[in-house]
Amino acid sequence: MNFLQISPFKHLLTHSRFLLTLRSEQGKYHNLILFRLSEALGSREAGSASSNFVAPQKSTGLLENRQIYAMNATCPHLGADMSHAEIEEFEDTTVAVCPWHRYDFDLRTGKSETGLSTCTYAVEVKTDPADDVEKVYLETPSGGSNWRLIELRPVSEEFADPPPAASHTPVQINPVVPGSDSTEPVVPIENSPKTLMHWAVLILNTANPTLKVMRTRHAVQLFRTGKLDSIGHRSSSAPRPPEIPPREEGFLKNTVNPGKVKGRKNLAVMLHALANVEQWAIDLAWDIMARFGPLHPDLPPAFFSDFTKMALDESKHFSLLTSRLSATSPATPYGSMPVHASLWESATITSHSLRSRLAIIHLVHEARGLDVNPGTIERFRRAGDKASVSAMEIIHADEVTHVTSGHRWFTWLCEKQGNVDPVETFRDEVRRGWRGNVKGPFNIEDREKAGLTPEFYEHLTGEMDEGEMEERKGGFKLDAGLRELKLEGPEVNVEYEAKV
Ligand code: FES
Repeated sequence: MNFLQISPFKHLLTHSRFLLTLRSEQGKYHNLILFRLSEALGSREAGSASSNFVAPQKSTGLLENRQIYAMNATCPHLGADMSHAEIEEFEDTTVAVCPWHRYDFDLRTGKSETGLSTCTYAVEVKTDPADDVEKVYLETPSGGSNWRLIELRPVSEEFADPPPAASHTPVQINPVVPGSDSTEPVVPIENSPKTLMHWAVLILNTANPTLKVMRTRHAVQLFRTGKLDSIGHRSSSAPRPPEIPPREEGFLKNTVNPGKVKGRKNLAVMLHALANVEQWAIDLAWDIMARFGPLHPDLPPAFFSDFTKMALDESKHFSLLTSRLSATSPATPYGSMPVHASLWESATITSHSLRSRLAIIHLVHEARGLDVNPGTIERFRRAGDKASVSAMEIIHADEVTHVTSGHRWFTWLCEKQGNVDPVETFRDEVRRGWRGNVKGPFNIEDREKAGLTPEFYEHLTGEMDEGEMEERKGGFKLDAGLRELKLEGPEVNVEYEAKV
């Protein structure tokens, strides 16, 4: 049995559930869920010979009588995300109950009363002689070698243990964008969405950014807790996403050619521009599900788990950034400055192919974010804006996982489509769907964490010419007829006061 060190034990005391992503040297991904039980729920099994928990080697007070279990993150029945499974004591065992159809799986053996079973993995807590720190070790999956930990992520604040004090929160999350309050309900009264595809299209059609964030949170919660009828991507009546997600008129007025917003140095302008990118990123996460789900009925639930997580992350990023903007520059709320829609231009260019979409949006645009974020963080740091530094650090860590998802599903697709080579196929997609050089300097370390080794992106140039680009954009003009209006307007006077 091979084991992988995953974390100091005390780092797992913040939450009771963690999602782990592992990758083998062969490029296979594996997602696990780690349940840490409190004393109340499982002290009976502590020390049991059949438990997959190994007690800490020396007494450390708080650490006693805690148990850790690991199992596959997706249910073997129809693939539900087990991160919101209920933990129940059942006769002489403790089980995780799947949120979709309530099959229960023994945390130690993985067996269910239904006859199905899931894989569980041994977990050990041992003192590392190198530094005398208690560390958690996990049995690695079979069918691959040199597994490494790509991500260890707490499953949301619902499972925080103990709940964080307000002072631990680095930045306040405030989804309310001034001037964008909406009287529309989060769940529409008529034709309320029943499937994930219904929610995806509703959110794409929601112009109000605050409502978009609220609906994203609500839909992801419903999906994770099994409260939707289905994903709905295999239904012949799955709704179609809009070609361009609508934006409110004030926002459209400010949409300009990307060249007009380049080179601005002001920090408030940076926050505004970053928030704009995050708003498009929320739409991109929903669009990849709604546009390509029905075209690829073989996409498993894990695909939707990854992209709903991405939608939720992007909505959190948008809230973080608009909150920072409101706090530091009240005179320039979100929507008051020029923005661009380049991301949606790339979405339009890649709307014909999931492979192209994953390559261009998630492995070129998002990977570029990994290159430039450290510089942005440094600028906020130099300005003494610690809260924006914290926000950007959260965003950057999440973005590494988004590029990981892009890489995971791109390689999955390559395997499905005749086992083609992911590196060559990616380079080919970029040559056909990108214009100009894939720019460095590259953040090699974080790209590599996400699965993007240099052979993917080094010395790579997109060969799409301007005529072809315009054709594939199909007349995309978010700001049609409104550009002049903005350019004739008064200059925005931006004040920025860093709060330290
Ligand atoms: S019981 Fe888990 S997906 Fe059905």
